[in-house]
Amino acid sequence: MENFDFYAPTRMLFGKGKVTALPEQMKPYGTRVLLVYGGGSIKINGIYDTVQSVLTEAGFVLSELSGVTPNPRIDAVRCGVALAWENHVDMVLAVGGGSSVDCAKVIAAGACYEGDPWELVKDPSKITDALPVFTVLTMSATGSEMNPTAVITNPETKEKQGVHSGYLYPKASVLDPTYLYTLPAIQTAAGVADIMSHIFEGYFKKTEDAYVQDKFSEGILKTCIKWGPVALTEPENYSARANIMWAASMALNGLCGCGKAGKWSCHAMGHQLGAYYDITHGISLAIVTPAWMRYILSEETVDKFVDYAINVWGFPRETDKFALANMGIDATEHFFMDCGLPSHLSELGIDDSNFQAMAEAAVPYANLDTQAYVPLHVEDVVNIYRACL
Ligand code: NZQ
Ligand code: ZN
Repeated sequence: MENFDFYAPTRMLFGKGKVTALPEQMKPYGTRVLLVYGGGSIKINGIYDTVQSVLTEAGFVLSELSGVTPNPRIDAVRCGVALAWENHVDMVLAVGGGSSVDCAKVIAAGACYEGDPWELVKDPSKITDALPVFTVLTMSATGSEMNPTAVITNPETKEKQGVHSGYLYPKASVLDPTYLYTLPAIQTAAGVADIMSHIFEGYFKKTEDAYVQDKFSEGILKTCIKWGPVALTEPENYSARANIMWAASMALNGLCGCGKAGKWSCHAMGHQLGAYYDITHGISLAIVTPAWMRYILSEETVDKFVDYAINVWGFPRETDKFALANMGIDATEHFFMDCGLPSHLSELGIDDSNFQAMAEAAVPYANLDTQAYVPLHVEDVVNIYRACL
């Protein structure tokens, strides 16, 4: 196991009605709050009204940035920073999914920086301070509610860029599983695919003796496989929503990925699809992941895929390792399809015209040619995209 520094400072307020515990967590930081949210789902399902009344009754003064899009854009961050300055806010509160949370994080850093916030995304070492960030989560997928990461898109440069900084950890996050009840089925499914991908990115790594991390990982994958379909058929099943919600936070708070060397592969390829085609993050991963798994399966990686097939999918050990490995990969693909997710880029109207440019951007983005589980060069990434068509 590699050396690591595990730090998870976010207070997690988990369960039905826990939003009422939020004011106490926010009070030490002041009274003026910038509320950041998306396209209006929180107004339809009532979460906006609940949050507003809980905070105003506790004496907070709210200003708002609304309309944050999925794959949040740097322009939304710029608007948020301007609002933060104009209203002299003390803290930023995201109410929404990963997109609102990520946008809020970079607004919080941008409000403490004199230059353009895109500079912070490109060079996180320039983040030297940030306003406190809080979140009320309405979609479970990214783990952003408990981690120091944000992902921001710059449509002008066709870049979708992750930024990591210790200043971006939320101070506290509210995770009320009932807030997930109104998610469209495709978002529930995309969220499950994203959670599973966060685990895959750490599970399939060169470090072989991180046994405890692998057992956490297999447990989270089995949680997604058990409860994801239940959440899809019974959107108001509390147990399903609660288990998925907690799995999402645990999948990307450092618990499963620590102590393992190397960079992520599928997210680097998926982010290019987001940058070029603005497609839902989890959908990009559901398409890329099985193709990537098949592409990297070899004598060197087969044992790990055998572990995956047996420990996650419960296939009996067979003599032919490759058959077993392929059974695990096929099960992954069928699971995503059964959840209603697209399995081919062509279903989304995407052809091969940008594959070369996307591959040329994906490889240096995550040093895929030197630091991926299986090194991937530009031609490999193009081949994987082609296998997704
Ligand atoms: O716009 P609103 O009204 O919020 O509607 C959203 C949006 O249309 C809707 N939604 C969310 N909660 C809902 C709801 N609709 C009904 N009822 C609810 N309770 O769902 C849609 C998707 O929301 P979004 O926030 O975009 O989803 P997600 O949480 O999947 O976030 C995706 C973004 O996070 C990034 C992705 O790349 C993408 O930009 N990621 C962030 C990471 C991180 N910060 O650590 C890591 C991830 O790997 C990922 O890259
Ligand atoms: Zn992801």
